[in-house]
Amino acid sequence: MVLNKKFTWGGASAANQYEGGYDKGGKGLNAIDVLTNGSATEPRKVTWKKTNGETGATPLVWGKKFKLPEGAIPTILDGYYYPSHQGTDFYHHYKEDIKYMAEMGFDVFRLSLNWSRILPNGDDKKPNKQGLEFYDKIFDECAKYNIKPLVTLSHYETPLSLIIRFGGWKDRHLIDAFVHYSDIVMRHYKGKVKYWLTFNEINAMDMSPYMGGGLIDGSEQNRAQGAHNLFVASSKVVKLAHEIDPENQVGQMLAYSAIYPYTCDPKDQIKVMEAKQAMLFYSDVQTGGHYPNYRLKKYERDGIKLDDRLEDYKLIAKYPADFLSFSCYTSNVLTTHNADAKASGNVSSGGIVNPYLESNSWGWATDPDVLRIALNDLWDRYHKPLWVVENGLGWSDKLEEDGKVHDDYRIKYLRAQIKSMEDAVDIDGVDLMGYTMWSAIDLVSNGTGEMKKRYGFVYVDRDDRGNGSLKRYPKDSFYWYKKVIASNGKDL
Ligand code: BG6
Repeated sequence: MVLNKKFTWGGASAANQYEGGYDKGGKGLNAIDVLTNGSATEPRKVTWKKTNGETGATPLVWGKKFKLPEGAIPTILDGYYYPSHQGTDFYHHYKEDIKYMAEMGFDVFRLSLNWSRILPNGDDKKPNKQGLEFYDKIFDECAKYNIKPLVTLSHYETPLSLIIRFGGWKDRHLIDAFVHYSDIVMRHYKGKVKYWLTFNEINAMDMSPYMGGGLIDGSEQNRAQGAHNLFVASSKVVKLAHEIDPENQVGQMLAYSAIYPYTCDPKDQIKVMEAKQAMLFYSDVQTGGHYPNYRLKKYERDGIKLDDRLEDYKLIAKYPADFLSFSCYTSNVLTTHNADAKASGNVSSGGIVNPYLESNSWGWATDPDVLRIALNDLWDRYHKPLWVVENGLGWSDKLEEDGKVHDDYRIKYLRAQIKSMEDAVDIDGVDLMGYTMWSAIDLVSNGTGEMKKRYGFVYVDRDDRGNGSLKRYPKDSFYWYKKVIASNGKDL
């Protein structure tokens, strides 16, 4: 294939799933620190208390409405297990883990900064020195091996204090808080970090507004305002990043997947078109620079009124994202003929089974062509450089007695994904910056909070209740990926 010399290979992670050390070094709590574990059948829950002492736990399901009871304040409660508290302990294993990444030949390591590790309340005037130092150590370690960090400023990690005081991103105060936080970290890590992503899967604002925006009332009005505030914050941060260091590049991060109609009934095509609009609205604004009419019309129909300023739209048009990155794991199928189709069991897609594809135990279909399709969709629409920053296979891997993990199913999946990505470059001429597989090292699943749903090239000895030595074991896919990187994607 013809991936250019600057094409970057690597792996991805998120602080709330990986880092642990949730109360170490002066860190404040974030949205995920009050989210319990779950499973494929049992949703994760946000725990809370009221001032009258009442406590409870509200289920959080991707794609379903979410609202905490009136007066409920999210908090940690006894008797629940919170997987983000330890993650897989990157906090104490970063040297070892980065060494593994170097051994695979990573050019890039995608990680998120835990916003409340830098600003414990999210908007403190002065940063927490220990928090800044922690990431300094990580970036220095990466530099030792010539690994460039790709930093997500917020990967579902809205500081809890901002959620409690302002109800999350529905309040414009969060724009200022985020710009302030970005200003601190971009100045502090100048020269060490040059690739930034603002918000992980920004369209989670619609699908999981608590994760995407720290909303404890995910009404349509709040989601629309939350999205608007994210867009304004993104443009301000793009402007700021370029002022701080002209070398900085700030990307959007979108959750994107191909969606197929189950039948050729035009009604199915319309259903797919509308589902795509729901995703692409976010990139039309953040990368394209303009609110699309289909969304404005929707707001008009639904009586949504934004707290906006003329200046917001000027900023959005003038400072769009420099590149568009996205996550893409699977494709989905939609239909208006539900009686003829079988539900996929993928709670996060609400789709149905694609009879041409195999699925994992969580109902995620393995689609060998999905990246070519996704890359073409996005390239044709924006003509901006693209970056696949998440793609991988969740599997209940087995550690053998000899310390090996034979994940040939993951190799098979990745081989097809990389081939599909290469087709988009070779056949279609898409401009692609790189690929960071999810995840470099095993970490907690975001959707279910399980350890059992593993993605990494390196196995971590930890179970769903937080037991295990945390010892690391390279899987078979580790050695395979090393070969792929060394051949710049030729030896698959
Ligand atoms: C993406 C998220 O949606 O998918 C990650 O950005 C997440 O945080 C990944 O881990 C895989 O999803 P899951 O639910 O299998 O962990």
